[in-house]
Amino acid sequence: MNYRETFSSIYNVLSTLDNNGQTAQYIPELAQVDPEKFGVSLYTNTGELHSFGDAQEKFSIQSIVKVLSLALAYTKLSSKIWERVGVEPSGTPFNSLVQLEYEKGIPRNPFINAGAIVVADILISVLENPEEEFLTFIHSMIGDTSIEYNTSIAASEKSCAHRNLALVNLMKSFENIKNDIDRVMDFYFNICSICMTTDELAKVFSVLSNKGTSLVSEKEILTPRQTKRINAVMQTCGFYDESGEFAFKVGLPGKSGVGGGIVAVHPGEYSIAVWSPKLNKKGNSLLGSKFLEAFTTAVESSIF
Ligand code: DON
Repeated sequence: MNYRETFSSIYNVLSTLDNNGQTAQYIPELAQVDPEKFGVSLYTNTGELHSFGDAQEKFSIQSIVKVLSLALAYTKLSSKIWERVGVEPSGTPFNSLVQLEYEKGIPRNPFINAGAIVVADILISVLENPEEEFLTFIHSMIGDTSIEYNTSIAASEKSCAHRNLALVNLMKSFENIKNDIDRVMDFYFNICSICMTTDELAKVFSVLSNKGTSLVSEKEILTPRQTKRINAVMQTCGFYDESGEFAFKVGLPGKSGVGGGIVAVHPGEYSIAVWSPKLNKKGNSLLGSKFLEAFTTAVESSIF
């Protein structure tokens, strides 16, 4: 299969359609990203990398990192992690406050902001040097040490983080945040600011297409059982109140970020990362979602 040709013909069709999305407006640094960027990378379980467009350009992975922070926390806490955060879809936007009050500060799942903030709090408790050890964890998946935090994106998000601060304060009042709020939020903004290319993202996510072992570094990062569970949570919760639609149209577990990235995984087959900065109203890449739908349709490859 000539994947580059498939990518190019899907892109050519989709780029003629209206893309009335917008870059993430609530984070000033992200609002300024070139909205026309587009990159896609497919990494097969046979070790082939197929890319197209701006696939070697770094962008902020934002909420895609929530999968990686969950993975690290899961390896540290094992199933005790589910006492602090649930595994149910929320059916609400990624930054919503409404369920937290009546569910007593236990977020529905680790991929909405509240859940990822709890996971950040867990990592602050269990890691000695959280920022350093988190990067080491990512480096161990890709056998490369060039992946870094972007301090201006982290500072930009911190400067207007009113909703996230409301979430963390509410959870602190229910005693589901154990550490100092400012420390937890700095770590959360830092991990969201991490920049990667679609080539790198597709490679990192080979851990989830290959039962927990990175195809690049050949290191066992997660057990097959942990991998199954993280993929299940991606399938049901990876796109917030659009998770059903993504499953329906694309048919793969995946995760989005407001930087415009989406990663999806076909266990046993491949991982695929796409980047297009304009977002739809649910905060997911508009062209990225359409591209993945067209891709799994064209190659007749989904988990269903
Ligand atoms: O906390 C936030 O709002 C951002 N750092 C991450 C949100 C995000 O990426 C939502 N995903 N589509």
